[in-house]
Amino acid sequence: MSAALSALATQLSTAVSAAFGAEYGGLDPELRAATRPEFGHYQTNLALRLAKTLATSPRAVAEQLVEALDLTGLCEPAQIAGPGFINLTLLPATLAAGVNEPVAFAPRGETVVVDYSQPNVAKQMHVGHLRSTVIGDALCNVLRSVGYEVIRQNHVGDWGTQFGMLVEQVLFEDLAVETLDIEGLQQLYQRARKHFDADGKFVELSRARVVLLQSGDAGTLAIWRQMVEVSLTEFDRIYQQLGSPLTRADVVGESAYNDRLQGVVDDLTTAGLLTESGGALCAFLPGFAGRDGSPLPVIVRKSDGGFGYSATDLAAVRHRIDELQADRIVYVVDHRQGLHFQQIFALCRAAGWLPDGVPAEHVAFGTVLGKDGKPFKTRDGGTVRLASLLDGATARARALLDERDALDDDAKATVAAAVGIGAIKYADLSSDRINDYVFDLDRMVAMTGNTGPYLQYAHARLSRLLSKAGETPGRVTVLTEPAEQRLALLLSGFGDCVLQVAETLQPHRLCTYLYEVAAALSAFYETCPVLTSEGEVRTSRISLCAATRTVLQDGLGLLGISAPDAM
Ligand code: ARG
Repeated sequence: MSAALSALATQLSTAVSAAFGAEYGGLDPELRAATRPEFGHYQTNLALRLAKTLATSPRAVAEQLVEALDLTGLCEPAQIAGPGFINLTLLPATLAAGVNEPVAFAPRGETVVVDYSQPNVAKQMHVGHLRSTVIGDALCNVLRSVGYEVIRQNHVGDWGTQFGMLVEQVLFEDLAVETLDIEGLQQLYQRARKHFDADGKFVELSRARVVLLQSGDAGTLAIWRQMVEVSLTEFDRIYQQLGSPLTRADVVGESAYNDRLQGVVDDLTTAGLLTESGGALCAFLPGFAGRDGSPLPVIVRKSDGGFGYSATDLAAVRHRIDELQADRIVYVVDHRQGLHFQQIFALCRAAGWLPDGVPAEHVAFGTVLGKDGKPFKTRDGGTVRLASLLDGATARARALLDERDALDDDAKATVAAAVGIGAIKYADLSSDRINDYVFDLDRMVAMTGNTGPYLQYAHARLSRLLSKAGETPGRVTVLTEPAEQRLALLLSGFGDCVLQVAETLQPHRLCTYLYEVAAALSAFYETCPVLTSEGEVRTSRISLCAATRTVLQDGLGLLGISAPDAM
């Protein structure tokens, strides 16, 4: 919490104890940002809540509370409003301290594992994987900045029955897999599917091939490995284009758990958690039922003896707890897999693999839609290639820069990429992740409204102002105008906002915050001249601008968006 907020909370609880008895001192003051400037900076409804418990008039409680409240050096005298709200107005010096001494987070000594991106081998990455990558990167940054040790796990889909079919098709066509690219693999996939659906003999061969693959047959593994390599090369290229820090070292694909799957079955059997059902081994957990009320199983081993997606996820949880020593596990996966994860988490708790103190959270997100409101696809219904999507955004940003013609050609290329990619990321992050959103490039790259380029522009404008200032920013000392007070108050809430995102895993809260900062900055420019003011006021305003620039740059940085100094 910011220093001013925690000081206020402490003073309020001391006053409550003094006026009404220590038993009420622990009540959360629930300090909220005031909704209107005339209400000051913060508001609490503590008196109203206390009055209910004490069965007296809220106004009387408020008066007694304010009487006992010592805000010396922190706030103006507290005001009582309406039925008994208490309004608090920070002193300029308190506001200034919030800007000059931003909160820093110490290491927590806790590890969080973040499972995200997770594309599938032999398939193009699609917009769902884009969402997972963008949201996952932002959350990793935020979690690290509040003091967690962050371990990224890219749970790549590189295992399962489809690989029997794929390897068999490679042998059938006598293909050299290493000559293919991801598109070639995707087409191979389609031919293999057709073949599989049409030819019973091929089905037999594919099934036998899965068994060979899962039991470690060298020739089969070699072909599989080439498919993995071609795919990972493509994923690396996309990560690079996106500016994602994900590397090969973060890839722990489904195949990595192959040797632990039998152990999962054995241990669940010993624990009495598995039931045979139609030849498959299933776990039926209380509280999970289908629409018709029939119990919903977790299928741990399929009737053909093979292990599926669930078994892999069970083994992954054990690995994360036992070896990675996770204190928190986060899965950034689209909302349709919600039930799957609820079942996995419940089964792991029942088996004692996931201790009660370790939260496992499904960070669910909605679907990317086309302008027609249907899931985003190419005109012929195919997967939109991410590479061309990102190229398109960069080209659009470039065209806009060309129109304004404020930069030289070299700078334009770098800035266009920063703006184009930043626009896509920001659009993805800025609405509540559970919502679907429409992929509308024109809106994403717009310089007005709650967009990435709007914030980047606010930042670039500050950089320009500061380079023209001719003096090094120092400390904020003068905060007399309401617009500069409002800006200072917002800036001092940066740490609280980041902490909130780390708790709720909702990056849109940070976007909303940064947008508010940019809006407060515009209001500040309107009433508070910076470069044309003089003396201490000039220095203080320059310092306020520098602090704003730092918050915008750091905030965008946490979102994985770069902030060029000119655009
Ligand atoms: N590869 C999967 C997909 O594309 C997502 C994997 C999610 N992570 C997990 N641990 N199951 O849908």
